[in-house]
Amino acid sequence: MTASPSSPPRAGIIGWPVGHSRSPLIHGFWLRHYGLAGSYDRYAVPPERIEAFFSDFAAQGLVGANVTIPHKEVAFRLCKTVDAAAAALGAVNTVWLDEDGRLCGGNTDGFGFLANLDAEAPGWDRKGGPAVVLGAGGASRAIVWGLKQRGFSPVHVVNRTKARADDLVEAFGAPLLAHGWDALPALLAEAALLVNTTSLGMAGQPALEVDLAPLPAAALVTDIVYVPLETPLLAAARARGLSTVDGLGMLLHQAVPGFERWFGTRPVVTRELRQHVIADLERAS
Ligand code: ATR
Repeated sequence: MTASPSSPPRAGIIGWPVGHSRSPLIHGFWLRHYGLAGSYDRYAVPPERIEAFFSDFAAQGLVGANVTIPHKEVAFRLCKTVDAAAAALGAVNTVWLDEDGRLCGGNTDGFGFLANLDAEAPGWDRKGGPAVVLGAGGASRAIVWGLKQRGFSPVHVVNRTKARADDLVEAFGAPLLAHGWDALPALLAEAALLVNTTSLGMAGQPALEVDLAPLPAAALVTDIVYVPLETPLLAAARARGLSTVDGLGMLLHQAVPGFERWFGTRPVVTRELRQHVIADLERAS
C-alpha cells in the first residue's frame, strides 16, 4: 500500500523496543489540536528486519517517521540524503520521503536540546562561555554539536570512560575537550552551563552525585533525564539557587520538525502539551 494523494499521511516511531515511547502522545496531541487528518503509530522493528522495513517504507503507506534506539545509525546509512545535523552526528532520528519517494533523514536531537533552553531560559546562550557536558553517548554527541553551533567554548566533555570522551572530541574537534570524572570540580568553577546526558538520576538508576558548590552563581543547570522531572541534580541546583531547565522540553521540541514535514503544519510546544505528557508520565509511575 503506497500513500495516495487522498489518503491521510501516516507516520510513526520505529524502534526496538518502542512501547515506552511518548512520541505517539506528542504527535497525537498535535494532530487533534490542529484538526489534521493523519496518524502516528508505533513500529516495533527488530534489528534483523530494519533494512527490509526501510526498503519497503513507501510501500507501507508511510510518509515519514521518527527513528529511535537501536536504529538511528542504520537509518543514517540507508537514507539517500541527510541534513547537516545528521551528517555531523552519523545518526538519523527523523525520516521523510522526497518528491521521488527517496528516503531522506535528519537529526533533531540537538535542535530539541537548544530549542528547549531557548524557550525555558531565554538568552541562555548570549554569553557563550565554558560548558560542561556529562556523558559521551549518543545524546551527548547531539548536545555538544548543538553547543558548538551556538559558540560555547570550550565545551568540556566529561565521562566515566575517558576514552569515549576522547572519541567524541576527535570527531568534532575544537572547542571540545575531553576529561575524566576527576576533572569536574575545577571545570565546574568556570562553567556557564552544566548538562547531564548520562542516565544517572533516571528513575531506577543511581543518582548523579556531583558537588555543585564550585559552580558560579550565574550558571544554568539542565538534565536530559525527564523521569523524574526534577532529578536529584536539578533539585541540588535549585537548592543552591541556580537556574535549572528540565529535560522534558527536549523531547517535545525534537518532535517539531518531523511533524511539520509529514503533516504540513509547524506545531507549537505549549504548556498544554507539556501537561498532557506529564499526566501520562504520572500515570506510568
Ligand atoms: P545515550 O546514547 O542515550 O547517550 P549511552 O551511549 O548508553 O546512552 O551513554 C550513557 C552515558 O551515561 C555514558 O556517557 C555513560 O558513561 P560510560 O561511557 O563510562 O559508560 C554514562 N553512564 C552510565 N552509567 C554511569 C555511571 N554509573 N556513572 C557514570 N557514568 C555513567
